[in-house]
Amino acid sequence: MKKGFIFDLDGVIVDTAKYHYLAWKKLANELGFEFTLEQNELFKGVSRKRCLEILLEIGNIQASQEQFDRWMIEKNEDYLEYIAKMDASEILPDVPRVLEFLKNKKVPIALGSASKNAKPILEKVGLLPYFESIVDGNNVTKAKPDPEVFLIAATNLQVAPQDCVVFEDAVAGIQAANNAQMTSIGIGDANTLTEANYNFNDFTEMTDDFLNGLLA
Ligand code: G6P
Ligand code: MG
Repeated sequence: MKKGFIFDLDGVIVDTAKYHYLAWKKLANELGFEFTLEQNELFKGVSRKRCLEILLEIGNIQASQEQFDRWMIEKNEDYLEYIAKMDASEILPDVPRVLEFLKNKKVPIALGSASKNAKPILEKVGLLPYFESIVDGNNVTKAKPDPEVFLIAATNLQVAPQDCVVFEDAVAGIQAANNAQMTSIGIGDANTLTEANYNFNDFTEMTDDFLNGLLA
């Protein structure tokens, strides 16, 4: 039976949440209010547009469509400045080991992310060659927890959804994987990712035996 593996990007492969946070915080401060790290948790796995909607709700700010679009662009331009400086040192621990393990087993790998910046980030950190398919914010119409992003990835890998394994750090992402009938693996706090089939704080905790078990 052919298996496929799908990785989320932000918070699973690289810790870009801190850059998203800094860019959103800058905008919030410009608009005259604070944006906390705790509030930033709500933004994980959520599309850029929805993040701005939530930010404006937090600041109690009404915006015209024109202003809204301008702030979307401004936030992304600030975020891209951080991304431009990224390199392989920002890959999260043991991600390359797991990718290499799967590659040696000839298991097809896809990316399933809400980000519209996924490809340049993978390129910057040098991991792009591992991915047979990149499904990101440019390819989907429905946000996680809708399973669309992962179902497209499964189709691209030519693997049945129930034979796919998803690595996710966001609650909505775990729900999307479950909604796609895939095996969901939470990367992060087990108390937050309670709906995941399995949980690890990070990839250093994931043994080759566990990965072999998923392939069996
Ligand atoms: C990921 C992150 C979110 C981010 C979204 C869109 O899902 O976890 O925090 O808002 O991607 O990212 P983008 O790079 O397109 O602004
Ligand atoms: Mg994520």
